[in-house]
Amino acid sequence: MASQDELKKQVGYKSVDDYVTSGMVVGLGTGSTAAFAVERLGELLKSGELKDIVAIPTSIRTKEQAESLDIPLVTLDTHSVLDVAIDGADEVDPDLNLVKGRGGALLREKMVEVCAKKFIVIVDDSKFVPGLGISGAMPVEVTPFCWEHTLNTVKNLPSIKGCDAKLREEDGKPYVTDNDNYIVDLYFTDPIKDANQAGKEMLETVGVVEHGLFLDMSFAVISAGTDGITVKTK
Ligand code: 5RP
Repeated sequence: MASQDELKKQVGYKSVDDYVTSGMVVGLGTGSTAAFAVERLGELLKSGELKDIVAIPTSIRTKEQAESLDIPLVTLDTHSVLDVAIDGADEVDPDLNLVKGRGGALLREKMVEVCAKKFIVIVDDSKFVPGLGISGAMPVEVTPFCWEHTLNTVKNLPSIKGCDAKLREEDGKPYVTDNDNYIVDLYFTDPIKDANQAGKEMLETVGVVEHGLFLDMSFAVISAGTDGITVKTK
């Protein structure tokens, strides 16, 4: 049986093989699955099978990986429309809505991926959920300034009242994002009832920078499991 890493590699490689062609502007996601797509892109550029690609990374980690593979990088400032973006996800619901950001890169991921003509999501099939918010944290990026006030405001928003909220920590200190912000992780006992409303209320909260609900963004979800690879489109 294929290991979880092998499944991640299968979907990472397939996403590049099927959706990236020469001359494209490509968004590079963040995480253990997206890293395989970056690896494959580097490999195909090196072999000459792909040419004239420029890419936009969604985190410092991914930027460093891409640089180590000689993938030419640009930014949204010069390339505001991407042909395709490829990234992993923490949860995928039946409508291909996502929770992202358990790896901490949600802001840059969302900024880049909303600009892509096609956003390709790559997951092993453990990421499928019947409703968003039930398999673990739903991350919210907040300003460090008065983060506790923002945490309390968010957890009392009408659409998600009753959730648990915790500041993400690393080595006993607040986890700091690539944008020098903090992350508040929300935990739910039931799926989020109205994810659109929850997203709206969070974004209207001053102090919230971005949230990890990626709604109506996926063009296709490529998943791998014991039954092989499946591609779902809306
Ligand atoms: C990072 C993310 C990742 O895409 C998500 O956490 C999935 O990561 P992995 O492929 O390692 O399971 O949103 O912010």
